[in-house]
Amino acid sequence: MDDERTVNPQQSIDEAAFEATIRPRRLDEYVGQSNVKENLKVFIEAAKERKEPLDHVLLYGPPGLGKTTLAHILANELDVDIRATSGPALERSGDLAAILTNLEVRGVLFVDEIHRMNRIVEEVLYPAMEDYSIDLIIGKGPGARTVKLDLPHFTLIGATTRMGLLSSPFRDRFGVVCRLEFYTEEELTRIVRRSANILGVDLEPKAAGEIARRSRGTPRIANRLLRRARDFAQVEGDGIISLEVSRHTLERLEIDDRGFDNLDRLVLLAVIDKFGGGPVGIDTIAAAVGEERDTIEDICEPYLLQEGFLQRTPRGRLATEAAFRHLGRKPTGKGGSQKGLFE
Ligand SMILES: Nc1ncnc2c1ncn2[C@@H]1O[C@H](COP(=O)(O)OP(=O)(O)OP(=O)(O)O)[C@@H](O)[C@H]1O
Ligand SMILES: [Mg+2]
Repeated sequence: MDDERTVNPQQSIDEAAFEATIRPRRLDEYVGQSNVKENLKVFIEAAKERKEPLDHVLLYGPPGLGKTTLAHILANELDVDIRATSGPALERSGDLAAILTNLEVRGVLFVDEIHRMNRIVEEVLYPAMEDYSIDLIIGKGPGARTVKLDLPHFTLIGATTRMGLLSSPFRDRFGVVCRLEFYTEEELTRIVRRSANILGVDLEPKAAGEIARRSRGTPRIANRLLRRARDFAQVEGDGIISLEVSRHTLERLEIDDRGFDNLDRLVLLAVIDKFGGGPVGIDTIAAAVGEERDTIEDICEPYLLQEGFLQRTPRGRLATEAAFRHLGRKPTGKGGSQKGLFE
């Protein structure tokens, strides 16, 4: 089901090449996240002036909000090389040692999905982060000995969608922790207009706004919807993405007025119709809609929570009045009342 979801914020396989072409390269092109950006600007400038590596940076937030993009921008702004790997790819401590020893001075090591790195590798990383050295064990059995290896001074940039899965000693070793937020409609409008420019496609201002409004606060989804709208405009229209074409595209993709797709609606309907609005546990919801728990927690839920359609309580998830209304159900009154959402 995942692969077919247009609003799945995760990157699909054929998307990597496309994303590379429209990915912003400098901090000034990176739309939104102004707090994060302003702080990083200061830290970058300070590190450059001191000719020191930037402190280790941890980027976290839901998929598709620009963590990988930001990591590459940081390296660019620092004028250094970046080596990219991921938590699951670093199987043995030797893999990590090989990468670390080959970094350039003040270079960046980017570890995506850093919450999926195994504990043994993680512990090798601790002294590397603190003292720029690692202890390597050479040989086996009684003849084995430890050798301390000095490393070039470097910056580790970690990215994760699951901050909660990182051990606290690990988290504490990052000097800069940045949480990426969902984007506003205005920011997403700027992002799709920028992408349309790069792609050389005619996008009417109102269509840009419509795509932005229905992209679940996520640049990856906005860009994906833009590409689908381009397809419809090309095949069924005159190549111009008008408001009408954008609405038609979203309808054909079964994305509703709030940017929710079938899975979002299934989740909300399960909570409302099968469990009386909740509270209901996440595993029960997952079983009811036939999806992995992780998919719901990582991909579906953050946006539903942020938009005030779901609430998290100690006893489980609760559908809010806004969710009942959106789906044409009569509120039971027990869902949390989210100020400002009701007329
Ligand atoms: N601030 C931004 N300004 C403009 N475009 C952006 C911004 N953030 C992300 N994008 C676009 O969205 C796409 C997805 O971003 P990116 O791959 O960095 O997300 P991510 O957070 O690393 O996702 P994942 O958790 O799946 O790894 C990029 O191709 C980029 O073009
Ligand atoms: Mg990424």
